[in-house]
Formats: sequence, structure tokens, C-alpha cells
Amino acid sequence: MYVCICARVRECEVRAAVRGGARCEDTVGEACGAGTGCGSCHPRIAEIIDAEAPANTPVGAAR
Ligand code: FES
Repeated sequence: MYVCICARVRECEVRAAVRGGARCEDTVGEACGAGTGCGSCHPRIAEIIDAEAPANTPVGAAR
């Protein structure tokens, strides 16, 4: 399922970006391109960040 229509980025790609260290819409965009167009997908990207990396979870921390 696409999260970002503008950049044609799937949810699995956004999740992979977060697992790779992206922790905000900007760094997700840098990692996979999601959210770099109209911005309407930013709320969904934020939800995925929260799900994959709850607040203050250090990058690479065991979960
Ligand atoms: S749908 Fe993601 S930037 Fe437009």
C-alpha cells in the first residue's frame, strides 16, 4: 500500500527508512523520498514513525 502517492513510496519502504534511523518526516524523505511532494502524507508518515520507533528510542536500540 502506498503511503506517499507523489513519490510512489510504499509503507514497507517508510518502515525500512525508520528502522534505518529516520526519525522525522524530513529524514524519512531523505531516506526514501516519501513526503517530499505535496505533504499530505506527513500524518501517515508520523504514525509509522511512532509505531516503528516510539519517542526517544535511540537508533539501533533493541525493542
Ligand atoms: S502524497 Fe506524499 S508528498 Fe504528496
